[in-house]
Amino acid sequence: MEEIRSLLELHKVVAVTCNQWGDTGKGKFADLFAEFADIIVRGTGGDNAGHTICWKDELGETKELVTHLLPSGILYDSFGKHNIIGSGTVVNPRALIGEIESLKKMGLSYDYLRIALNAKLILPQHILVDRLKESSSGAGKIGTTGKGIGPAYVDHYNRTGLIMNHLLNPDIFVKKLRENLLDKTRLLKTYDPWLVENIFQQEYLESGIYYNAKNIFDVDAIIEKYLAYGKELKDLITDTDSFVRQAVGRLMILLEGAQGALLSIDHGTYPYVTASDCTVAGLAKGAGLNPEDVGLSLGIVKAPYITRVGGGPFPTEMGGDESEKWCNNGWSSRETEDENFFQASVNDAGEFSQGVAIRRAGNEYGKTTKRPRRTGWLDLVLLRHALIYSGPDTILTKVDVLNDCETIKICTAYKYVGPDYQYGSSILKTGCKIDEAIILSDVLEHCQPIYQEFPGWKQSLKGISTFGSLPSELRQIIDFISLETGMNPRIVSTGPERSETIFV
Ligand code: GDP
Ligand code: IMO
Ligand code: MG
Repeated sequence: MEEIRSLLELHKVVAVTCNQWGDTGKGKFADLFAEFADIIVRGTGGDNAGHTICWKDELGETKELVTHLLPSGILYDSFGKHNIIGSGTVVNPRALIGEIESLKKMGLSYDYLRIALNAKLILPQHILVDRLKESSSGAGKIGTTGKGIGPAYVDHYNRTGLIMNHLLNPDIFVKKLRENLLDKTRLLKTYDPWLVENIFQQEYLESGIYYNAKNIFDVDAIIEKYLAYGKELKDLITDTDSFVRQAVGRLMILLEGAQGALLSIDHGTYPYVTASDCTVAGLAKGAGLNPEDVGLSLGIVKAPYITRVGGGPFPTEMGGDESEKWCNNGWSSRETEDENFFQASVNDAGEFSQGVAIRRAGNEYGKTTKRPRRTGWLDLVLLRHALIYSGPDTILTKVDVLNDCETIKICTAYKYVGPDYQYGSSILKTGCKIDEAIILSDVLEHCQPIYQEFPGWKQSLKGISTFGSLPSELRQIIDFISLETGMNPRIVSTGPERSETIFV
């Protein structure tokens, strides 16, 4: 992996983000870069993320760690690498303590883990509001992870939020908490009390301990729990913005993205997005830096397919509405698919079962929510859009998942098939062709993909270690994507493990 060391030495600050709707392998690459970086920083999102790291232990056994809030450089803590949860993140202290406990159980250290004192605090009311809103939204629901991410960012922008540092100042914490709850209590009184109580009883909200039948919130219970969390985390809470800023140019820094450009609140498929800007600009800011500090931005592209978790438009989804309904029905899982679709093949003529087969081949099931990830062909219209924000350098991951496909389809443009739509000064009419994304859900939901087909490579990629040795069919596809979008592939990933990485 000397190539990774060279990249870090040359560029000093490297960002790894995702050019799609998340789950592209950020964990794998954050872990790979962490070996040579001095500092690894998460700058956006919270425990809505699920980043997987795979490695072989001394006995050659495959091990896996899924991080949610912890940066994926945590395995290198014992080598003195600093892992930082930056100021742009939203932190649920209980979830973080849970992750730290899991590390301890695995015999892993976290001596150099630090949390930004100004990271935003997720409180029980955020989780409650997130879940209430979702369960009251019917078909149009976003399908959030239910972790309180959106409501915590809303409070930040509403200037009523709390930060990690407040946990260290009990009087200020209590005052701000009470102020924050005033509005919430008023709003919550308009909801069905049965539903409110029911959500409070969920395990993720500590099974009802924050519920008070008369006042909705048991404020004392929140105070007691959160101040205890503060005591537990106090040695980790510090001014990380200043630490990271001072390290620029001196130390090698890896910025670990969460979610993906298409889920960005500012540049994604709004409103079916998360609540932070998950592009490199948002990531740099949330790590305490300026975008100009980033020497190299690497955007990951799962290729040549794409997945999405939750609701929202997805023009290339295999099986369309049927797939969306199935994946979001609340009970489908890896197990139900293994049981019901064990005969599905990646070459099935029926798109729905082809999608299920690719999902099973790629193990595309949420690391955070266990939901099946909706699966579709690679969409170059959306990729062109994402590259505007992440820049041309990309990492292609999971190419091995399509090893058995006879034919690979790539979406190069859309045909608009909706009602007349006024888009600024122009009008979109049914039948018109779109090749630059209009990233509005109202438009995307009426877009039909136009595909170009390629022959598959039909072979295993195991053991291939140079770009030139990849099958010519696969290289042809990568060249086509590059030509069509302007991307510059730097790395190709052919499996979850560290060694399954090819530098272009
Ligand atoms: P993240 O959220 O971007 O970190 O991605 P996730 O961890 O949610 O999902 C990516 C999944 O793909 C994980 O299970 C990884 O171990 C796995 N993975 C990463 N790269 C590759 C690859 O090149 N091939 C295959 N087959 N799996 C990969
Ligand atoms: P990583 O970092 C995939 C999606 C949710 C939902 C929307 C809003 O593992 O790639 P939120 O709880 O954030 O308010 O949910 O965003 N989402 C993700 N999808 N990967 C993620 O993270 C995601 N984090 C949020 O499914 O559609
Ligand atoms: Mg993930």
